[in-house]
Amino acid sequence: MASLRGRTAIVTGGGRGIGAAICRRLARDGAQVIVVDRDLEPAVSIAGEVGGEALQLDVSEPAAVAASLSGRDVDILVNNAGYDSFAWFTDVTPAQWRQLLAVNLEGVFACTQAVLPHMQSQRFGRIINVSSEAGRIGSSGNAVYAAAKGGVIAFTKSIARENARFAITANVVLPGPVDTPLLDEIRATGEPGERMIAAMRAGTQLGRLGTPDEIAPAIAFLASDDAAYVTAEAWGVSGGMGISG
Ligand SMILES: NC(=O)c1ccc[n+]([C@@H]2O[C@H](COP(=O)([O-])OP(=O)(O)OC[C@H]3O[C@@H](n4cnc5c(N)ncnc54)[C@H](O)[C@@H]3O)[C@@H](O)[C@H]2O)c1
Repeated sequence: MASLRGRTAIVTGGGRGIGAAICRRLARDGAQVIVVDRDLEPAVSIAGEVGGEALQLDVSEPAAVAASLSGRDVDILVNNAGYDSFAWFTDVTPAQWRQLLAVNLEGVFACTQAVLPHMQSQRFGRIINVSSEAGRIGSSGNAVYAAAKGGVIAFTKSIARENARFAITANVVLPGPVDTPLLDEIRATGEPGERMIAAMRAGTQLGRLGTPDEIAPAIAFLASDDAAYVTAEAWGVSGGMGISG
């Protein structure tokens, strides 16, 4: 079992869904976890559960991110916070696409930039980004989200290149459809949402949705000393959804 004893991890969007499962798993492996979320209450709840710290922060606000995260004694950053909104691209307004990019892509920039100087000075760091298979193979009704997630993949590889000399690794995990409150929001749209989820399920080789607990172990591995020689990887944890990508 990989051990994270003595490591401190920041997990963004840690209040629920995949992020909450990541917090639980990293804590179980011995890490001290800082649960970052836009919503304070769930962050406090998960932090209480894992014996960590809760931090209310909107990752789409770079000044607030810098103020809260810069200089922290952190070893592992999991950029997990994200959201999706479903619409044909012809219906997406500039305000909507800017917000999707601000959270899903620029939020990753802001958090990464805040923690890198400390990681560089200690000559150790693990950056693990949560993208999506949509970022590799595209997705109908999610063009801007997919573009942001594709950007996260390219950004991760670039950070891996720039920071290898500091023994910092950067990898990106691409979940497929995972049963979280995010999917509940799609279900809530009724018949079109159910159809979309059925299509997602059919798009996997395993023919089913994943669970948050099936994503977290990949993150824990990439955070661990066992993954010291793994960097710049884009790792699908998606029931085989990325097979054509
Ligand atoms: N669920 C899926 O099918 C799926 C598939 C592929 C990728 N992903 C990605 O996995 C990550 C987690 O998704 P999830 O399904 O657990 O979502 P979720 O909506 O269940 O949870 C996301 C969490 O992030 C927080 N958050 C959202 N915007 C934030 C912001 N601006 N600043 C700080 N916190 C913020 C929310 O409050 C929430 O606690 C996201 O990046 C998502 O894009 C999810």
